Amino acid sequence: MALKIIKKESVVLDERLSHIAFIMDGNGRWATSRGLPREQGHRAGAKAFQRIATHCEELGLRAMTVYAFSTENWKRPAREVEAIMDLLEDYIDSCEKELKKHSVRFRFIGDRTPLRPVLRQKMDRLEAITKDNRMILNIAVNYGARSELCRAMQTVADGGLPISEDSISGALYTAECGDPDMIVRTGGDMRISNFLLWQAAYAELYFTDKLWPDFSPADVDEAIRVFYSRQRRYGGVSNV
Ligand code: IPE
Ligand code: IPE
Ligand code: MG
Repeated sequence: MALKIIKKESVVLDERLSHIAFIMDGNGRWATSRGLPREQGHRAGAKAFQRIATHCEELGLRAMTVYAFSTENWKRPAREVEAIMDLLEDYIDSCEKELKKHSVRFRFIGDRTPLRPVLRQKMDRLEAITKDNRMILNIAVNYGARSELCRAMQTVADGGLPISEDSISGALYTAECGDPDMIVRTGGDMRISNFLLWQAAYAELYFTDKLWPDFSPADVDEAIRVFYSRQRRYGGVSNV
């Protein structure tokens, strides 16, 4: 008997979904479960990220935000932190080489001050040369939502503007791309870990046990299907 492969319909985006944020968690566990050092998990995680970013670009998503390194991740062993920073540099280098293949507008969100000068320069350059591209890709590095909110409120106060939802939203790193419609967290933990606290107000949350290096484009499609099956009421009442 011939084996029939049933392929799931590919997802098609509409105006309900324009921005997905990912908490890319589980790299360390992926590595240790294989007897590998945690750095190898980050390497595999970087590859997964590139597959997912390309997929989101192909789907036509308007914005994607990924949590790469939090303000709290400095607590990790120096070797691990260095490995993550090395991977970021390598990633930026590879993006510069493959600029023509993609139409991504890179933005690095978070406080760059404590990062290596060479990494900061690479971030600045990649942002500048991709500034006219279509899909916004926010990469959160040394990002913490509380720190982002303090910075935003200080900006509003310094500008002499009244404190309002609009003035604060406009001073956040995400001012241009707006709030995520969905936040996906891999790795099985159900928490936000200081990510996009303000912007998450009405985001749909999607948690999966899959570890980030195992997360695939098909898993993104599944998350999107779940997103479309939900009803967002924003505090109102359902129409059906
Ligand atoms: C997420 O994976 C990547 C970063 C936080 C930099 P982890 O390194 O947190 O992986 P686990 O949670 O320890 O498995
Ligand atoms: C969140 O993961 C940060 C990133 C994915 C970059 P963590 O592994 O740092 O979060 P906790 O410590 O489990 O809350
Ligand atoms: Mg983790």
